[in-house]
Amino acid sequence: MVALMANPTVRAATMAIHNFFRDLYPAPKQPSSQPRKSKAKKERLFTADDLKKYDGKEGSKGLYLAILGRVYNVKKGKDHYGPGGGYEFFAGRDGSRAFVSGDFTEEGLIDDIRGLTSTDYIGLNDWVKFYDKDYKYVGKLIGRFYDKNGDPTPYHTEVQKWIAEAYDVQDNDNQEKKMFPPCNSEWNPDTGSRVWCTKRSGGVARDWVGVPRKLFNPGKGQPRCACVKDSGPPSHDPTRTNHDNRGDLDNPNILEYTDCPPDQPECMIKPSPSLHLTPACLASQCNTKYSHDQKF
Ligand code: HEM
Repeated sequence: MVALMANPTVRAATMAIHNFFRDLYPAPKQPSSQPRKSKAKKERLFTADDLKKYDGKEGSKGLYLAILGRVYNVKKGKDHYGPGGGYEFFAGRDGSRAFVSGDFTEEGLIDDIRGLTSTDYIGLNDWVKFYDKDYKYVGKLIGRFYDKNGDPTPYHTEVQKWIAEAYDVQDNDNQEKKMFPPCNSEWNPDTGSRVWCTKRSGGVARDWVGVPRKLFNPGKGQPRCACVKDSGPPSHDPTRTNHDNRGDLDNPNILEYTDCPPDQPECMIKPSPSLHLTPACLASQCNTKYSHDQKF
């Protein structure tokens, strides 16, 4: 599991599965008869040793956990975080990294979150939103994210930057997905792969169908199958009047599939020997005589 979670795609998929199930079995709501403490109550500052005393074990002072230096009372989730619970290792400490790495060993349960992927930073931010919504925030942990006065550390400032950058990457990916929606695809051991476009393929509703092309994204590894708009002005200049009515077909990052009719919304792809593209080809206009691994 830990080895698998080293793969960012597996991590993202795991968290999607986790979120689905977590939302099916939400933590019990605070009993409404329980008195609510005043919002004005001053937040507390904890040292790591203070926080350890809130690990929910017998004789402990309570059941708290921290994420990105923010401390929450998770008593109402004692079935998860209390002794014997599936996530008891999060109690009494800040194991931020493990919330996205899935590495629940002592080495993994750390608060250093350097070098994660943008999906991970968004995942961590989502966890903070989750605790803000579902649990009671009680204060800050002095250490990596907050100093002894409770003020954000330079590391905290860096983290905010990483999270903001992660959302920028997500925005760009969403824009790319809108311009080049993923193809539908299916694989059959006898006939090979079929890719095709519809007005909803890739989960992107639009008023055009498009034609399947290999889309190269320099720096992002394997090409993927994209539905490319094949009429009207290019997407980056939608109001242009003097265009060739070819949509995005002249985009330098796309390539026709060999042996596929270039003007049809569907294409049967025969397996072809792998060929690694040079960066020069990726960056410039590659022509159709190249064949590639088909992965999408
Ligand atoms: C990185 C990996 C994962 C992390 C960090 C994680 C973390 C957590 C945490 C902290 C909770 C408690 C939430 C609360 O306070 O309500 C929880 C609940 C839950 N998680 Fe995960 N999880 C992970 C992966 C998974 C996977 C792969 C599945 C399912 C296949 C899953 C299924 C569940 C379910 C069903 C619950 C809620 C109910 C219960 O435990 O009885 N989680 N998870």
